[in-house]
Amino acid sequence: MTAPILPPTEQAIERAVRILRGGGLVAIPTETVYGLAADASNPVAVARLYDVKGRPSFNPLIAHVSSLQSAEIEGQFSNRAKDLASTFWPGPLTQVVNTTQQTKVCDLARAGLSTLAIRVPAHPAARSVLAGFGGPLVAPSANPSGRLSPTEARHVSADLGKHIDLILDGGSCEIGLESTIVDARADHLTILRHGIVTADQIEEVWPSVEYSEGNSDAPSAPGQLLRHYAPDARLSLDQTEPTAGGAMLGFGPIDGTLNLSRSANLLEAAANLFSMLRTLDRTYDTIAVAPIPPEGLGLAINDRLRRAAAD
Ligand code: TXA
Ligand code: MG
Repeated sequence: MTAPILPPTEQAIERAVRILRGGGLVAIPTETVYGLAADASNPVAVARLYDVKGRPSFNPLIAHVSSLQSAEIEGQFSNRAKDLASTFWPGPLTQVVNTTQQTKVCDLARAGLSTLAIRVPAHPAARSVLAGFGGPLVAPSANPSGRLSPTEARHVSADLGKHIDLILDGGSCEIGLESTIVDARADHLTILRHGIVTADQIEEVWPSVEYSEGNSDAPSAPGQLLRHYAPDARLSLDQTEPTAGGAMLGFGPIDGTLNLSRSANLLEAAANLFSMLRTLDRTYDTIAVAPIPPEGLGLAINDRLRRAAAD
């Protein structure tokens, strides 16, 4: 079965909201590109999103909200970051800020980071879905990893139609290029991904702009622009038992202090990964991790575990 393609009528928006509340995936038009939306607070929905995109690693996702007021529930905005928001939102600018204590965006959506990328999209259909949903939605471009970003509903349907629940057809995307991403945490603003909002436009609001080399999807110095979540505890992978006094992160029949998924379900394991690592990291100095099969979402899980172990 392939996902229905519906124009964004009131009924279709309501249906989209119901699907999202139930943990489903809905492709929505934005002014930049079509996004594949999921409930940002639901780690199982987010795990399914990574799975459908077929990404070999977990990249943090952009949270989409309906207003600066909603954004301030999720992230901490300096006065300058608020100025940027009032100038460019709703619109194609994403700001990276520190999370708040009460953020609803789950650990997996942030790939374990304590920062958050967030924007208020301008497309009326995206805004209606956000208004109806009433919470943050993550929405990476609605294409399989390594393919071009979709700018029409039929692109989404051809690439992902069989794996998602609904496609809202809002016509061709006006911009056709992903949003500009800026790191808005320090006094200097850093452009992480170039887009339609230019450095010159940003400088009118925030005078000290720095440029990062390349873009954040393909950093020239990996790990520098986009810091990966690194636990303090030492990780050892492919283990069947913990070291003395250490924690064991189990998977399937290999049980432990915590178990990523007793039923060896990779979706569940991905959903638990970052929050369980954080929990164990608070109490233990070493964490032994059970083997995770290197297939499907297991590839992304192993990729993140290897990075965490290397740091
Ligand atoms: O135009 C867009 O932004 C589209 C539409 C659908 O809104 N969305 C989009 O989302 O491009 P996404 O999730 O594919 O963008 C994710 C990128 C990551 O690859 C990373 O470069 C950056 O956003 N990112 C996310 N969280 C970050 C963080 N905490 N720090 C730095 N960069 C981050
Ligand atoms: Mg993309």
